[in-house]
Amino acid sequence: MTAPDRLTGFSNDRFGLFLHFGLYSIPARGEWVQSNERITAEEYRRYFEQFNPREYRPREWAKLAKECGMRYAVMTAKHHDGFCLFDSELTDFKSTNTPAGRDLIREYVEAFRAEGIRVGLYYSLLDWHHPDYPAYGDKQHPMRDEEAYRGIPQDFSNYLRYFHGQVRELLTNYGKIDLMWFDFSYQDSVNDMTGEKWGATELIRMIRSLQPDIVLNDRMGGHTGSIHPTLQYGDFVSPEQYLPPKGMTDENGSPIPWEACVTLNDHWGYCAADRNYKQPKEIIRALVECVSKNGNLIVNVGPDALGVIPEPAADILRRVGAWMRKNGESITGCRAAEYEKPEWGRFTQGRDRLYAHIFDRGIGPVILPGMAGRIRSARLLCDGSEVSVARPWNQPDNDSDAFLNLPSGPMPDESDTVVVLELEKGESLL
Ligand code: GLC
Repeated sequence: MTAPDRLTGFSNDRFGLFLHFGLYSIPARGEWVQSNERITAEEYRRYFEQFNPREYRPREWAKLAKECGMRYAVMTAKHHDGFCLFDSELTDFKSTNTPAGRDLIREYVEAFRAEGIRVGLYYSLLDWHHPDYPAYGDKQHPMRDEEAYRGIPQDFSNYLRYFHGQVRELLTNYGKIDLMWFDFSYQDSVNDMTGEKWGATELIRMIRSLQPDIVLNDRMGGHTGSIHPTLQYGDFVSPEQYLPPKGMTDENGSPIPWEACVTLNDHWGYCAADRNYKQPKEIIRALVECVSKNGNLIVNVGPDALGVIPEPAADILRRVGAWMRKNGESITGCRAAEYEKPEWGRFTQGRDRLYAHIFDRGIGPVILPGMAGRIRSARLLCDGSEVSVARPWNQPDNDSDAFLNLPSGPMPDESDTVVVLELEKGESLL
């Protein structure tokens, strides 16, 4: 399959669920806790011995994701701490050896697949548990400043064999995997941990031979911060915690597939003290913004140590879901419209319809610049009711614009009221 074919499903899906789950849900101070607090392997082991998420029910997560209009999910098979949520033959540091005694990835994959949600796996390139992963002097290893780790003989090729071997396991033992999300490349004074350091070319060859249709993010390449990234080692770029102002393009201005990943509060892994949750409206508008720029949005939840998605996060997803149930048609399978961003909101475009997402109606009619005489019908997406398209008496003579006259009073949906526009015959969408 060529890249565009592989990406059709992914780009149609538009909206996904990111799941960061692991031992770090027990200290509950985010997934970087081991590095931030320079916790030794021995101390960190206590979480391994305690790990028992007895409320882990991925079937419920999958139902929630579906209710929210999400079409794919990505879950941490291994995060930076090296702990594996799957039954790898290559390590003992895995969920099947904890009190949980379960292959959590298998349960996740089966649950999401059963709900018809595409399944992705996150795999950390970093590994703070593996003895051959750079520790002393590394930028973020928990033991980066520990003299005792200086000069310890290491063989990075052992780590590469381990990492490639685990990817092989994940892509062999769990049926069809739709997406693989690697995280992340970096440079520091000691190492250049990017691209071929990961054996990326060889790894991708193996991945494609095992799962020809799989979609890959770009983070083996180390271009995360660039405005004009190149897709050397993957199919899409992954801007983190921001929405690119003009979408993503290469140096020649051609669009590049992208997915923005964002947290619902300020952490990926569970952080008990972090109550700084976004509003459902912000997520809805962020999703619309991504689609209006040909991008995807994946929003993250960090389940707690029992395996429960925190209620404030679940509540946001349900509210976004209520909007998606009525308005999902303007998101799934949609893309950027060839119209400039209007003052009142944004446009998205489906196969033969245009969607006006009205965030801020302002005073008076909503103006559709340059669309006079081109609109056959305008209806609210939430209830199908007609919206009148006519020039009001008080508008200056202007032959080019069309005017939507919305009912007075509060907007049907304060987050985003969507009007479906069908164009006159012969007026093709660009
Ligand atoms: C960052 C963090 C990591 C998180 C990821 C998600 O790279 O290191 O904890 O998993 O972002 O995008």
